[in-house]
Amino acid sequence: MERPVVRVGVIGGGFVGTALVQLLLDPTRHAAIVDGATAPLELVGVAVRDTSKPHPGIEAALLTSDVDGLLSNDLDVLVEVAGGIEPVRTYLETALKLGVSVVTANKALIAESGTELAQLAHDNGADLFYEAAVGGAIPILRALRSSLAGERINRVMGIVNGTTNYILTKMTSGGSDYASALAEAQALGYAEADPSADVEGFDVAAKVQILSTLAFGTRLSGDEVAREGITGIRAVDVEYALRSGYVIKMLGVAERVGETGVSRRAHPAMVPARHPLASVNGPMNAVFVEGVKSGPLMWLGQGAGGEPTATAVLGDVLDAARNRVSGRHDVPFSGDTSLHYVPAGELSSVFYLSIDVLDRPGVLSDVAGIFGRHDVSIRSMDQSGFGDEARLSFLTHRALSSDVFATVEELKASASVESVGACIRVIDGVFE
Ligand code: NDP
Ligand code: HSE
Repeated sequence: MERPVVRVGVIGGGFVGTALVQLLLDPTRHAAIVDGATAPLELVGVAVRDTSKPHPGIEAALLTSDVDGLLSNDLDVLVEVAGGIEPVRTYLETALKLGVSVVTANKALIAESGTELAQLAHDNGADLFYEAAVGGAIPILRALRSSLAGERINRVMGIVNGTTNYILTKMTSGGSDYASALAEAQALGYAEADPSADVEGFDVAAKVQILSTLAFGTRLSGDEVAREGITGIRAVDVEYALRSGYVIKMLGVAERVGETGVSRRAHPAMVPARHPLASVNGPMNAVFVEGVKSGPLMWLGQGAGGEPTATAVLGDVLDAARNRVSGRHDVPFSGDTSLHYVPAGELSSVFYLSIDVLDRPGVLSDVAGIFGRHDVSIRSMDQSGFGDEARLSFLTHRALSSDVFATVEELKASASVESVGACIRVIDGVFE
């Protein structure tokens, strides 16, 4: 059925929602937006939690706190840029059951319920798009879904969290402490409502799961991702990395293991200073894709922030609108779901470990013995400080991760060790 306009409702009037509303209503972009959508868009309303709070940049007449009212407004496309799981999941289910296409930036929700939501969309002739959920403005999901659909991907590795990259960059080049760098990232609109999602690696883990779906055809939601955050990283680790020719980056990795396995991980890593990811700084994101025939490919761009993210949301809105006008919807992506998950412990890597010890005779041999008992060979060791301050920094040879994790547990229990600081993987080569 031909419609005169495409009716768009938005849930969320925060950093991303406000930027989206401004893009949608920008008179200088009007013709391009109509062209992209193949129809004029009508912004029906913007739902927020509390309309009495100031929402600069959104006209008061558009604001509502009645989400159900917005949903019953004969929408064509619902944009969700509110965040969290409930009540948002219920709102999206309601919309999809009504045949309304959904555009969301909510990686946490997609990683938790994406499979079911995609099925619901398909069953009801609607679209579910979530380009902004990974990499902010970077069109990486479309690239994997369309341009690389026929390519065999071996690995997707990237910096996909602006907040942690901002914090680590500030710690590396500005000498900032962790807390003030985090506060700045929050003020700039990069951080999640609960920033532990960023610094504990949940946000990266959700994005890795989504990337894994598009690269390897694994399930969109509910699959396992190994996760470590950046809260244990101290200034001394950052300095050690710099002295040794590395920078510490929070990475998301999804890669094939042999013919039948796939590994998904979110963790900090020491990246060689010459690696392309090493110079990706501040809130910038970058995604590195290694395809068999395409070779290495890399996308770089603003991974967080209201305006960059809103551009990706708008692209999805235009796709969804165009599909509505032509009476079609995209079939949900499905691929080779036979790949099995390989736990992080079964993979090997070089590791950096930092340990605080009491500087007294016998400590070094105790510590070295623990490494040896777990079959972890030491490549180099560095001691700084003395007395109560003594710190040992180790680089291992390539070792099985489970052996390194067991070494850390025994070190923690050892009377010679005061505390174990960071235990960070080291990327050895550019294409390791
Ligand atoms: P904000 O916290 O700035 O804004 C959230 C908005 O959603 C607020 O307007 C809030 O209302 C509204 N809201 C929250 N819950 C409800 C609800 N139950 N009903 C109605 N409205 C609700 O978040 P962001 O704009 O930063 O992020 C939004 C989403 O985009 C999240 O899923 C986030 O993960 C994702 N995202 C964010 C990026 C970024 O850089 N900020 C980048 C990529 C994705 P009120 O104003 O009244 O509090
Ligand atoms: N909190 C996220 C980040 C927003 O810092 O990258 C973008 O997904």
